[in-house]
Amino acid sequence: MKTILVTGGAGFIGSNFVRHVKGAHPDYSIINLDKLTYAGNLENLKSLEGESGYTFIKGDICDRGLVDEIFKKYSIDTVVNFAAESHVDRSILGPEEFIRTNIMGTFVLLEAARRYWQTGSNDTATSKNLFVHVSTDEVYGSLGEEGLFTEETPYAPNSPYSASKASSDHLARAYFKTYGLPTITTNCSNNYGPYQFPEKLIPLMIINALNEKPLPVYGDGKNVRDWIYVEDHCSAIDSVVHSGKSGEVYNIGGGNEWQNTAIVRLICELVESKLGLPAGDRKRLIEFVKDRPGHDRRYAMDSSKIKKELGWAPRHTFRQGIEKTVDWYLDNRNWWERILSGEYMEYYKKQYEER
Ligand code: NAD
Ligand code: DAU
Repeated sequence: MKTILVTGGAGFIGSNFVRHVKGAHPDYSIINLDKLTYAGNLENLKSLEGESGYTFIKGDICDRGLVDEIFKKYSIDTVVNFAAESHVDRSILGPEEFIRTNIMGTFVLLEAARRYWQTGSNDTATSKNLFVHVSTDEVYGSLGEEGLFTEETPYAPNSPYSASKASSDHLARAYFKTYGLPTITTNCSNNYGPYQFPEKLIPLMIINALNEKPLPVYGDGKNVRDWIYVEDHCSAIDSVVHSGKSGEVYNIGGGNEWQNTAIVRLICELVESKLGLPAGDRKRLIEFVKDRPGHDRRYAMDSSKIKKELGWAPRHTFRQGIEKTVDWYLDNRNWWERILSGEYMEYYKKQYEER
């Protein structure tokens, strides 16, 4: 039995993780703290509404008073910190919110955990106490044609987003070294799957292909990402929560390196076949557009540490995961149409404020 504070639990990975924990550990109590930015959507968690052992709190991780109150009121013993501004293109257009949420917000959470668990001079942290900070492979920078990121790869973030995540990773490390706060950082590769906001490559391409809209590929389209199905990332974090060692870093990757153009073509083929369209009907929508500034060329993760030490392994190949994902977006049109129209933002008011 644990009481877990999940931050950012209304976002893409956070909502999948909340559902994962509910299924895998029904006796756990989950507190979901989320500000409901444009990326937070309570419709991602409709199935949990009213369930015992699940509490949603609308709020900001930068709000010290609120975070302190949550630690005290709910006797939080484990934190899984997903809350962040997560989209690289938005960080290029406006970095400030990334610095605030990703760095200051993580700092506020670490401080609250330190105070509440009283690590330091009067150490009362129990074996249940753990602060899992969820981070990204982007902190390591960009790879050439060869090689993989390991936990020892030096940090070299290239976007305001990755620089803010790198900074928060350093804070988590420093709180372990200085105060003995039991922190673990996980660095994961590109996630995809159900409930991903349609600004990211895969859902954007699926939805545009379904809607017969242009498919904008940045630069030459040869940038490589290492894709992981979101459920595999959630099971990795579950392993870290239960068997991870404080002060450690774990790299998590799907072992699925794909060039962007190859992914977009595959999505087109799947949409064409599922809609019964002639071959090539959606591929003609591909457009090569201006490159992203500072666009990292290649990411690829060495996940051997988490596999060896915690016995975790991803269950999905990219082909399995992408087919499930295309099916999910086909079966859940209403979910993404409400995002495109902006209606999803009204859901919180209806469910929580107007009752
Ligand atoms: P997302 O953008 O879908 O969700 C982020 C969530 O955080 C949203 O629900 C949003 O409302 C909430 N949030 C934002 N600012 C907040 C604040 N100040 N206080 C409280 N809540 C706030 O992001 P995601 O893709 O689910 O990513 C989750 C985490 O995983 C992030 O920390 C991200 O850096 C990390 N990550 C993501 C990926 C990926 O491929 N998506 C890969 C590796 C790591
Ligand atoms: O690697 C982990 C990271 O993956 C996470 O930390 C980030 O939160 C997450 O957003 C993601 O970052 P990327 O920048 O890799 O993901 P995105 O989906 O934005 O882009 C994936 C690749 O596709 C990248 O090379 C840019 C390219 N792209 C993206 C978009 C949105 C396009 O070519 N066209 C597009 O329209």
